[in-house]
Amino acid sequence: EKGGYDHFMLKEIFEQPQTIFDSLRGRLDAKKGTLTMGGIREYAEMLSKANRIIIVACGTSWHAGLIAEYVIEELCRIPVEVEYASEFRYRNPVVGPGDVIIAVSQSGETADTLVAIESAKEKGAIILGICNVVGSSIARLSHAGAYTHAGPEIGVASTKAFTAQLAVLCLVALKIASEKGSVSAQRFQHLLDELEQTSDKVATALKLDDQVKAIADKYKDARDFLYLGRGYNFPVALEGALKLKEISYIHAEGYPAAEMKHGPIALVDENLPVVIVATKDSYYEKVVSNIQEIKARKGKVIAIVTEGDQTIPPMADDVIFVPSADEIVAPIISVIPLQLLAYHIGVLKGFDVDKPRNLAKSVTVE
Ligand code: F6R
Repeated sequence: EKGGYDHFMLKEIFEQPQTIFDSLRGRLDAKKGTLTMGGIREYAEMLSKANRIIIVACGTSWHAGLIAEYVIEELCRIPVEVEYASEFRYRNPVVGPGDVIIAVSQSGETADTLVAIESAKEKGAIILGICNVVGSSIARLSHAGAYTHAGPEIGVASTKAFTAQLAVLCLVALKIASEKGSVSAQRFQHLLDELEQTSDKVATALKLDDQVKAIADKYKDARDFLYLGRGYNFPVALEGALKLKEISYIHAEGYPAAEMKHGPIALVDENLPVVIVATKDSYYEKVVSNIQEIKARKGKVIAIVTEGDQTIPPMADDVIFVPSADEIVAPIISVIPLQLLAYHIGVLKGFDVDKPRNLAKSVTVE
């Protein structure tokens, strides 16, 4: 059942080239330049006219929502807010007709997310569900939606569901943008091509497994980890830190790289591994200066960089090269080494990575 892998988590990490392909299949046709989203067709025009979009989710799905916020604002020019479902629900939020709520949930059963959309629906908002489990409560409560088609996720830590959420949320953003006319035909086509190539690029990134395992071995006894990124890679840093916490019980924090100087830099010393997602994008030059700030304080830098990068490798203690991609789809690829790092550290420390302590696969209590 684990398909020859030691754990479901590793099997699911390695399934990602296929699950990403499955999440796009029948929807995206890069050759023809078309994008079909059956589950939102009726609402496409409404979505493109939304006053604002509110994404509600928890945990890893909330991280996918944070990336989607940047993608939707960039491509659709619609204001987006991302909310922890539990916070959104209990503070009497301003929400009503004309608002679109995107609920992101692997299980489709998370109680916090479910009650949040129930109350928003009562107030007249349109609910779009992005779920993995077909027929789940959140999917049934939604007006429209798109399944992520990642297949059953057994490992408690979410991996393949996350990358499928990112792929589907990109499709939704592109659909709204093309309906609205807020993206050029050339950029639309380019992003369809880029999305289609992510599955192969993820397969390439998975070949780094041995290298990541060696890095895991080197840093497995650290007491704390810091994860940094900017722009589209900032939520990837949050996700990398969450995976490490869940699986290895090491304290880890994710931060926007530039925020570091406003506080967390006080933690940096020769004992602190700092994982920096620094792929080539519009934030790159700024991230390079953030790395210099860490090295000046003797932090250990583990850098995730784009193949061919020659600037960061001489500055970093450890380097992981990932295939180059448009910044909008880059998180789907840059998260792969972070999933592997958490997995290997957890295994090396002797923990049950498929069933981390205190956690359940779907959290059906508020
Ligand atoms: C992290 C993880 C949790 C879930 C969260 C939301 O690895 O598994 O943080 O992401 O409980 O679950 P869903 O997506 O099922 O609503």
